[in-house]
Amino acid sequence: MHRTAIITGSANGIGKAIASRLVRDGYSVCINDIRSKAADIDAVVAELNATPSSDGRPKAISIPADVTSGTSVEAMIRETVDKLGPLTLMVANAGIAQTKPLFSATGEDVDKVFSVNVKGVFNCYTRAAQQMIAQGDPETAAGLRVYKILGAASIGGFRASAPLGVYCASKFAVRGLT
Ligand SMILES: NC(=O)c1ccc[n+]([C@@H]2O[C@H](COP(=O)([O-])OP(=O)(O)OC[C@H]3O[C@@H](n4cnc5c(N)ncnc54)[C@H](O)[C@@H]3O)[C@@H](O)[C@H]2O)c1
Repeated sequence: MHRTAIITGSANGIGKAIASRLVRDGYSVCINDIRSKAADIDAVVAELNATPSSDGRPKAISIPADVTSGTSVEAMIRETVDKLGPLTLMVANAGIAQTKPLFSATGEDVDKVFSVNVKGVFNCYTRAAQQMIAQGDPETAAGLRVYKILGAASIGGFRASAPLGVYCASKFAVRGLT
């Protein structure tokens, strides 16, 4: 069965590494990040498509989108399914870190970090699940479910540290959502 993944925040860092590994494992992937990183997204897509796939399908496509917007996440999922086929994996990797002791952090800092790290993950989890349910029962291989939804937490989601208070709270929330 052909497998398709969206990896948010994959223009660089851990997301790019996850996408590269998934392509090596035979997935077609959507490389997503914020619009201001369009050039980085395109560079990752070009790198992954450098060797063509055996079935002529693109190994990677580029979709800039802000995960804090539910409608943008829905549009990204629609476009991925149109271009690559049914969605089998969502990796909600996009996240922002902020090093600031709690007494220096502002309400705006809390909104900003929670908007990407919690609302963004919520948008990806719920929209991907709705898409997978609409697609119907997954095929199974060796008794394993084929549909998967993953999120990036952190060691900070298990053990908080003072300089990263708001970030750690958001990563505890990712574990709660998951
Ligand atoms: N690097 C680490 O040591 C570490 C440790 C634990 C957890 N994590 C988590 O792993 C994930 C990836 O970390 P990383 O180190 O690769 O970070 P990174 O900053 O290199 O990559 C994260 C990407 O997410 C993108 N992004 C930010 N806001 C977005 C939005 N609204 N919509 C779409 N994309 C958005 C960024 O532009 C960036 O390219 C994050 O969730 C991070 O919190 C990282």
